[in-house]
Amino acid sequence: MFTKLQDKWGLSSRTFWIVFIAFGLTGTTTAFLTRYVTLWLGMDANSEWYYRLGVRLFMLLFGYQVILLTYGFLLGQWAFFWKYELKLLRKLKILPPAALKTPIAIFASGAGSNALKIMQYFEQHPTISVDLLICNKPGAAVIHHAEKQGVPVLLIEKDRFFRGDAYIPVLQQHRISFIVLAGFLWKIPASLIAAYPNKMLNIHPALLPKFGGKGMYGENVHQAVLDSGEKESGISIHLVNEHFDEGKVIFQSSCPIEPNETPHSLAQKVHQLEHAHYPRVIETFVIENSQPATN
Ligand code: GRF
Repeated sequence: MFTKLQDKWGLSSRTFWIVFIAFGLTGTTTAFLTRYVTLWLGMDANSEWYYRLGVRLFMLLFGYQVILLTYGFLLGQWAFFWKYELKLLRKLKILPPAALKTPIAIFASGAGSNALKIMQYFEQHPTISVDLLICNKPGAAVIHHAEKQGVPVLLIEKDRFFRGDAYIPVLQQHRISFIVLAGFLWKIPASLIAAYPNKMLNIHPALLPKFGGKGMYGENVHQAVLDSGEKESGISIHLVNEHFDEGKVIFQSSCPIEPNETPHSLAQKVHQLEHAHYPRVIETFVIENSQPATN
């Protein structure tokens, strides 16, 4: 039962329990405060039933939500609870329904600096939203970023990804239209590529077609670029196909290599280019390749 709820909320185990505790504390505090407010208003068992009911309803419908947000904030889960409240207000028709946006998913396994930039860029975007973060590494920093941004997280397992349904039904459940890889190290199975034809992007920290392929990630790439005596490096954003880093390149940007460049300093320059360009390139790509709305 807990696992189902955890999946529905899209939280890691640790955050799930924090959220669970916040709900528990809210329930107890609301009950306590309701009693206190009733006494403070001078009500007792002899007061009119509708007065007592009114106070209870007020505390349940309004007080509970405020206390929930307060605990959420104090426990570092503001984003989750704020989104939760907005959803509730939409369900109760107090707020108008959210505008229909094109939902995208980010796949990332590591530090997640690109994933964070993408989530921040699309946070208030009028037509695109990041609706899911898929990660294959429990404890990866990117999970923390997603939770802070209130983006649901799905931790995936090797067996199901490569030998099962590749999580396609879950992506469909979230209505994901585009996938962007941002430091995701597993190869994408053919079934998933077929489910998202020309709808999946990757970013590579060098100027493809050079310095791509298996094993070309992290500082390996920058070391290889420096060893080959190149005068410049950069980033490539490309469509994903069944071969590592071989899909059609849709964007490149370069930076010069200085005489005493190290893999570390080059990585920093390349990261800056990635952060500056990837979100905007995704935006243009998604807008240009989205199906026009049909009536
Ligand atoms: C980036 O350099 C990207 O080009 C590559 O993986 C790295 C991810 O970095 N595909 P970060 O986790 O986003 O910081």
